[in-house]
Parts: sequence; structure tokens; C-alpha cells
Amino acid sequence: MPIKEILKMGDPRLLRVAKKVEEFATPKLASLLVDMTETMRRAQGVGLAAPQIGENLQVVMFGTGEPNPRYPDEEPVAKTVLINPVITPITEEMEEGWEGCLSVPGLRGRVPRWKSIRYSGVNEYGEPFERVARGFHARMVQHECDHLWGILYPMRIKDFSQFGFTEVLFPGLSDSEDD
Ligand code: NI
Repeated sequence: MPIKEILKMGDPRLLRVAKKVEEFATPKLASLLVDMTETMRRAQGVGLAAPQIGENLQVVMFGTGEPNPRYPDEEPVAKTVLINPVITPITEEMEEGWEGCLSVPGLRGRVPRWKSIRYSGVNEYGEPFERVARGFHARMVQHECDHLWGILYPMRIKDFSQFGFTEVLFPGLSDSEDD
């Protein structure tokens, strides 16, 4: 059953700190990645973390390689599997931007994030890699990795006047564009 239920905010499983992946190239990990890919595609999401389908492991995926209609000026982010991630801000500078989440359906909020980051981790084969990211790419990585620390984006909102229903905030925008 590759398509899994996406847990919604309020489920305590979304608040756990996820465990590191210790073994790679296992059928279990391969099957988790298939489940996540199919679940994310079905939900038309641009990112998904394993805890969102109830797997308490440090695995996230994001990026489609396609331009994102919400961020037309940003470089498309390559389809990425990131495991056991570490994020380091490059500057202290934060910026606010709108976020949505498949675990918080129908809502959007403005969330402060590091503007540019360095992130590292391993891919599905256990091979290490490191990237520098800014803007939308950096925001997406921070959002997805937050799921691994039990943090949902509403927990980072500073100004709750900037939090509401997608259909009200952005009439005409499909809710299927949630992160
Ligand atoms: Ni999310």
C-alpha cells in the first residue's frame, strides 16, 4: 500500500523527535521511500517528511525539479531525498514567507526562516552530500526538517494576523499547492 494516510496536526506522532536512520539499502528504507513518493504525489505536495506518514525516522523528501508557481523567480529545486540532516544558517538573517503543510490542510501562515543555509546529510544509499540553499529552497528544507524535530510551521509563526485559510488569503489558489 504505497499511499499512506498523512497525519494531521493534533496527532502526537507529529510531535516526536525522529530517530536517525542507521541502515541503508534495506528493503524497509526502499519501501518507505516509495510510500513517501506516492503519498506526496497523490497529495500534490512539494515536500514530505517520514513522520507525516507515521514513520519516526529522519527522512525527508522535497523538490520536483519543476518551477514552482508560487515562486516563479526561484530556481527549481531538484528532487531530493535527505536523511539524517544537519542545517546550519549561513547568516543570521531571517525572512518571512508563506507556508502551508499537508499536515495542516487548508491553512497558510507567514513563517520566519533563515534566509540562507548550508545543509548536509546522506541520500537513500547512505552517501553524504552537502548543499547551500537560499530563499524558497532554504525555506522548504527548514520546513521539512522541522517535522523531524516535532515542529509544525504554526509553532514558528510570530504574527498570528498572518495565519489563515488558504481560500480566504489567496482566493483562486488551489489548496493542492501545500508544502
Ligand atoms: Ni509540512
